[in-house]
Amino acid sequence: MKIATSGKGGVGKTTLASLMAMAYADAGYNVIAIDANPDANLALALGISPEEADNITPIIELQDLIYERTGAQPGTIGGNFKLNPEVSDIPDRFSIERNGIKLLVMGTVKGPLAGCVCPESAMLKALLMHLVLRRDEVVILDMDAGVEHLGRGTAQGVDAFLIVVEPGQRSLQTARSVKKLAEGLNIHNCYAVGCKTRNESERQFIKDNLPGFPIPGFLDYNEDIVKADAEGLNVYERVPQAVKNVQEIQQEMERLLSNP
Ligand SMILES: Nc1ncnc2c1ncn2[C@@H]1O[C@H](COP(=O)(O)OP(=O)(O)OP(=O)(O)O)[C@@H](O)[C@H]1O
Ligand SMILES: [Mg+2]
Repeated sequence: MKIATSGKGGVGKTTLASLMAMAYADAGYNVIAIDANPDANLALALGISPEEADNITPIIELQDLIYERTGAQPGTIGGNFKLNPEVSDIPDRFSIERNGIKLLVMGTVKGPLAGCVCPESAMLKALLMHLVLRRDEVVILDMDAGVEHLGRGTAQGVDAFLIVVEPGQRSLQTARSVKKLAEGLNIHNCYAVGCKTRNESERQFIKDNLPGFPIPGFLDYNEDIVKADAEGLNVYERVPQAVKNVQEIQQEMERLLSNP
């Protein structure tokens, strides 16, 4: 199963991605969690300490490795370098493992280089493609609201694209535009997951405003999620209600995937 989370800033993507990763790991799967956000904080959500998280070097900053694999210095644009560098050893060498989950932090190609033909971007794209298409673990990819990390091939290997929304027009608007971008890459299984919903009428509001989006479930508003975040504690271990919600989301998502 390869799952990506996307959606407007602050809606709950990282919280959902960490809960999904923990739930699959708890069910006995080997899981690779990938943080593809510029402002990377999936490590904390997985219960890794701030000190340890600060010591993780994002893949994109491994200059020597990028040079070795692409044949070009990071920071260069264009020129001759390998667009398809060898990456198969990277997940095992450069991830940190916790509770049966291997975490990889991608980092981002900063500023005007984004979307450009540069060695860092070739490296990131090749690595994501490898993880999505070649590894047999469950892969959970925590993204932002764009789809620029995904090349076409990688996008088509994503089984479920979970667009997180909260009960409010702005995140719904973002969801519709993310879905369009995803469909442009031929990703078909775009689902909406409602987050921070407080009651049935907020859940219904999301359903009513997203026609055409299957909704596998909701990660309801829970004060204990906020508390766990504030104290740097793992939501999966602290908030049974969130675990229950996520298990329901997974079951329904798997059901939708098997009978669309
Ligand atoms: N169901 C929920 N109930 C209450 N608070 C929540 C819930 N889900 C997420 N939050 C809180 O909302 C905030 C944003 O969550 P999170 O970091 O998961 O969002 P995000 O979409 O990944 O944000 P970003 O766009 O910055 O990456 C956090 O403080 C988190 O604890
Ligand atoms: Mg996040």
